Amino acid sequence: MLSADESKRQAAERSMRYVHDGMRVGLGTGTTSRHVVQLLGERVRAGLQIVGVPTSNEAAALAREVGIPLATFAEVDELDIAIDGADEVGPGLALIKGGGGALLHEKIVATAAREFVVVVGEGKVVPTLGKFPLPVEVVPFAGPLVGPRLAELGGAPVLRQRDGKTFVTDEGNWIFDCHFGSIPDPERTAAALRAIVGLVEHGLFLNTATRVIVADEQGVSVMER
Ligand code: A5P
Repeated sequence: MLSADESKRQAAERSMRYVHDGMRVGLGTGTTSRHVVQLLGERVRAGLQIVGVPTSNEAAALAREVGIPLATFAEVDELDIAIDGADEVGPGLALIKGGGGALLHEKIVATAAREFVVVVGEGKVVPTLGKFPLPVEVVPFAGPLVGPRLAELGGAPVLRQRDGKTFVTDEGNWIFDCHFGSIPDPERTAAALRAIVGLVEHGLFLNTATRVIVADEQGVSVMER
């Protein structure tokens, strides 16, 4: 049986065929993206010329370690491709992202890219989004006000903790994980979340992914929009 990590590695390997010399590449966050960054590093050390824009401090540190030159949006105004993981992939390649807490930068990078390739291992493709708690990023000042608004929407929000303390994102914000259970109409949920003042971004990525590479027991397959 394919281990979870092996399936992530296989999806990452397949994504390499979309990265070519001269590209500006968005670098994702999470355990699957780690494989992508490591594989890109190997190719850079073998002569591939790319620059990467990382989606988190964690991704930046790994990219530096493996030798990928980095840039910011002050230096590049668009990306040729971004490659990142996802927590759930639903109909129409709608995604839930942000399990690792990097959703804000991930969404900025994904929407700046001409092509957004998502890499997932076993068990991430679902008929309806929402079993995975939807992360939403909130300005701490507004946290006590936003929590009850999320509860009104049926999100059963839980303020994310790490090591006994409130988790803080790279931008200094908080994350509420919203347990909707099921999100049958992601566009509607996204619009309701967007209307909450103090909510910076949510983990629904709609009409963003152009390709999803899935690796599981059956092999590697590519879903396209
Ligand atoms: C990071 O904030 C997330 O959006 C990740 O891309 C997502 O949680 C997938 O992570 P894994 O590749 O670790 O499953």
